[in-house]
Amino acid sequence: MMYWWKSFLTIALCSVTGAKAQLVSLHGSGTTNPSKCFWKIIDQFTTQSKTPVRITYRAVGSSIGQTEFMVLPQAVNDFSSGDLPLTAEHYATLNASNVGMMHFPIFLGTVSFFHSVPGVQDLNLTGELLAKIYMFEIESWDHPEILAINPNMQLSGNTTIKVARRAEGSSSTNTATEYMYQAAPGIYDENLVGAFPTWPNVTNGENVLTCSGSGGMTACIEENENALAYIETGHGVDAGIPEVRIENLDGRYLTAIEAVENGGLSQEEQASLFPPEATGDFSGVSFINRPGEYSWPMVLFTYIYVRTDLSYLSADQQGLLLAFLDAMYMEDYIQPCADEFGFLLPAEDIKTYALNAITELRALNSNATPWKFEGSDTLSVEGMEDYVISIKRKSALDDVRDQLEDVVASADGSTTSDSTMEAEMEQMMATIADLQNQMSVMNSDMEAMNTLMASFTNGGNGEIVTQGSFTSDDEQKLQAALGLAAASFSMSVLIVVVGMFRFATKP
Ligand SMILES: *[C@@H]1O[C@H](CO)[C@@H](O)[C@H](O)[C@H]1NC(C)=O
Ligand SMILES: *[C@@H]1O[C@H](CO)[C@@H](O)[C@H](O)[C@H]1NC(C)=O
Ligand SMILES: *[C@@H]1O[C@H](CO)[C@@H](O)[C@H](O)[C@H]1NC(C)=O
Ligand SMILES: *[C@@H]1O[C@H](CO)[C@@H](O)[C@H](O)[C@H]1NC(C)=O
Repeated sequence: MMYWWKSFLTIALCSVTGAKAQLVSLHGSGTTNPSKCFWKIIDQFTTQSKTPVRITYRAVGSSIGQTEFMVLPQAVNDFSSGDLPLTAEHYATLNASNVGMMHFPIFLGTVSFFHSVPGVQDLNLTGELLAKIYMFEIESWDHPEILAINPNMQLSGNTTIKVARRAEGSSSTNTATEYMYQAAPGIYDENLVGAFPTWPNVTNGENVLTCSGSGGMTACIEENENALAYIETGHGVDAGIPEVRIENLDGRYLTAIEAVENGGLSQEEQASLFPPEATGDFSGVSFINRPGEYSWPMVLFTYIYVRTDLSYLSADQQGLLLAFLDAMYMEDYIQPCADEFGFLLPAEDIKTYALNAITELRALNSNATPWKFEGSDTLSVEGMEDYVISIKRKSALDDVRDQLEDVVASADGSTTSDSTMEAEMEQMMATIADLQNQMSVMNSDMEAMNTLMASFTNGGNGEIVTQGSFTSDDEQKLQAALGLAAASFSMSVLIVVVGMFRFATKP
């Protein structure tokens, strides 16, 4: 009888609390490229949603993300992200199993070639020359065809070209090889196009550098003279290595940075390259070697992939996934990613295309809980509803972060006077000192608490003796828990502060 009552009570309690505060979770995986942006938006959602949400994203690379998305009948991730569309084979497999999916284009990326030819500025190359170098038809920087477009090149010593290639599959390899093939189909072998081609054997292995990850490609350039490597533009530019100027389809020599500054690839034609429906086969979509005066020849898209039938998720999860997709096209969420991490946002017509696809996905999953966003326009009363994500909800950490971002931003700007800069630095140091103070106060509180706790236990037999100022066991436990929470909060603030400080003072 007792047991029956107990379980009845438990069920009743769960359903009462469950109705209001059920945690809504979502888990994604895929390319590393957009992960900083995803994590930032996830943090915002966590703070801003009234209903508790937990979203995670595993940065494991496009191919693993696709593999996890391809598990049938049900994907093992709730959404996936990749720097390339699903392959035709993957798409056909899903279609044959009657499983629908959608591509959501979120960012544009560019790939560039970087070099380490000593003392050479503004190295000029064409797609054809790059193809010849990667096919080992040209093996030295002093080749007449290279010198012809580089009249100011001063070479000395051993000028053998070291060709850098990725040790594993990557979207940058896919982009660079597709470009070399399209620019020089008679020279670059079609079988060597892809994320991880079977590279040809070379007579002299010393001419080849096998480099792991974008960081490895950068290191290969930094550690070897006369090397040539393809790398995501941002990685290479951040590392301060020289970018090769490439001749685009319209005959203009430029770097990716110059292309982007001048409008990049012609904006109006972006969406026209996608299939009419987001549920279509994207495998043939390519932004390689497009026409346009300032068009950059190696452009790729980062996508989010989702299944069209979301019935494997709860109504709350479906709604949260749709809200997460919404955020990818909302100024409040996506603009900070562009500003902070340098992501290139797609043109207006792509945004319209994606928003139409989200509307379609919503219609196909009409049970999804509708989540609302509260932006800078306050939603009076409505804003307090359970499924509202509000930018007006913040955490104390956000404030510290915002202040430091301002300091970092002004450290970057050349307009800030030295004295303003100094004052801001001093203010930041004061914030750090204040936090350190709080930490030591907290530590001594914790120590006092520990001493107190110890005095409650009597000589090893575990019997509790009541003494000291605490009147109840519960109150004491509560205080200890509060102390711990505060200490860990201060710790995380300190870590952010120190991290930002190091970034701000980086030469
Ligand atoms: C499979 O492909 C056909 C033709 O492209 C399309 O009409 C159909 O909707 C697709 N099926 C799914 C489940 O996406
Ligand atoms: C590359 O071409 C530009 C002119 O288009 C020229 O100014 C530059 O010096 C060339 N680079 C080299 C290394 O000769
Ligand atoms: C490269 O050489 C190895 C053995 O030396 C051989 O097994 C492999 O098939 C060759 N690869 C190509 C692409 O020719
Ligand atoms: C130049 O360097 C390559 C390796 O990068 C080496 O194989 C070659 O023997 C060197 N040539 C001379 C003349 O030293």
